[in-house]
Amino acid sequence: MDRYVICGGERLSGQVKISGAKNAVLPILAGTLMTKNAVLKNVPNLSDVSYTVEILENLGMNITIENDKMNIINSGIVNTVLPTELCSKMRSSILLMGGMLASAGEVTIPYPGGCSLGSRPIDIHLKAVEKMGVEIAESSKGIYCKVRNLQGTKIKLPFPSVGATENIMLAGVLAKGETTISNCAIEPEIVDLAKFLNSIGAKISGAGTDTIVIKGVNELGGCCHRVIPDRIEAGTFMIAVAGAGGNVKIQDVIPEQLRPVISKLKEADVEVKEDENSVTVCSDGFIANTDIKTMPYPGFPTDMQAQFMGLMCGGLGTGIINETVFENRFMQVPEFIKMGADITIEGRCAVVKGVEKMKGAKVRATDLRAGAGLVITGLSAEGVTEITDIHYIDRGYENFDGKLRGIGADIIRINEQAVQ
Ligand code: UD1
Repeated sequence: MDRYVICGGERLSGQVKISGAKNAVLPILAGTLMTKNAVLKNVPNLSDVSYTVEILENLGMNITIENDKMNIINSGIVNTVLPTELCSKMRSSILLMGGMLASAGEVTIPYPGGCSLGSRPIDIHLKAVEKMGVEIAESSKGIYCKVRNLQGTKIKLPFPSVGATENIMLAGVLAKGETTISNCAIEPEIVDLAKFLNSIGAKISGAGTDTIVIKGVNELGGCCHRVIPDRIEAGTFMIAVAGAGGNVKIQDVIPEQLRPVISKLKEADVEVKEDENSVTVCSDGFIANTDIKTMPYPGFPTDMQAQFMGLMCGGLGTGIINETVFENRFMQVPEFIKMGADITIEGRCAVVKGVEKMKGAKVRATDLRAGAGLVITGLSAEGVTEITDIHYIDRGYENFDGKLRGIGADIIRINEQAVQ
């Protein structure tokens, strides 16, 4: 089990390059189940990507990786039971359902794992594919799904679930007739999935609006696709600079997709300059606390909530964070309190009273974004912060410590086995 050791107080400066988006590449990898071959570029080196590749290889696909380029050859699916151990590591394994139903006609999915953010049901996914002609049987081993007759239909989502929208898109591509998803998610990762699927021959329109229409086709080909940059990784670096102070150009981003984070940072008195493919954050490290309400895109992302909370811990004044997307996403709070934070939780709201100086402490990453929040806080805190369970952080940040060192942070990764 590795850990990070951070000496707080260094100002950050220079440039950092953002990797491809985790939440875009994972559904796209599920889409490759329907291709014969695909080349993906700008693929981030993350543990969630490695687990997904292992699952795809287990299903019979041939995948080679060279830097950020992935070559995928699919000569036919040889197995329809997804491996339990790998699926239990990430919730996004549920995304393989749509691709498997379309390509192999059946799939057994162990109950998905991943970061525990309260109860994360998959009822919307299951109801939707059932309506499209899929039989579902649940057992202690997982969920068995078999296509009776994959048929396009009209589906109205009760909540714009990102994963459910993606699963329905994947299943709809090779279904008979037209699938319409209304009240669907409009995240940039949905648009990127549609772009990938259309480039292999799908007929999807409306991605990025609240209604997506998929006209089923009989066959799909191959393609070469470049994954969009990770807006959450970019936002995390922006907040790191805001808290630690300094001047950093964050490159290879789509500024429009960072709008909610940019607006909140400006509200907190941080200077943000936008260019075509970069944003530059300039901060003296003093933050005016503000209120945050997480919402589906284009609202403030729930995946940035813990990092912004970390920033607010040492800010001026009081700010309220209202988490509307997940029911239990404040697991980082006891860890921040160990570092001197003044936070009280009232239901889905956290009241953060800024303290003069956060202090280094021994803390534990409780999930992916909570872990990133602790790193950010450690960078601006007084003294040494030690963060354990950083395997969560590896799920979503490529070479996090290396990139931070590149802009002047004092952070090292300690490999426990090497120490013993
Ligand atoms: C995706 C992202 C995750 C992000 C989240 C919200 C990926 C791989 N993960 O997760 O990083 O935090 O979007 O932006 O892209 N829900 C149900 N029933 C369902 C499905 C969802 O009740 O069948 C609820 C969830 O419990 C949650 C809310 O809907 O409260 C949002 O979930 P959803 O949009 O589906 O998130 P994910 O796709 O899991």
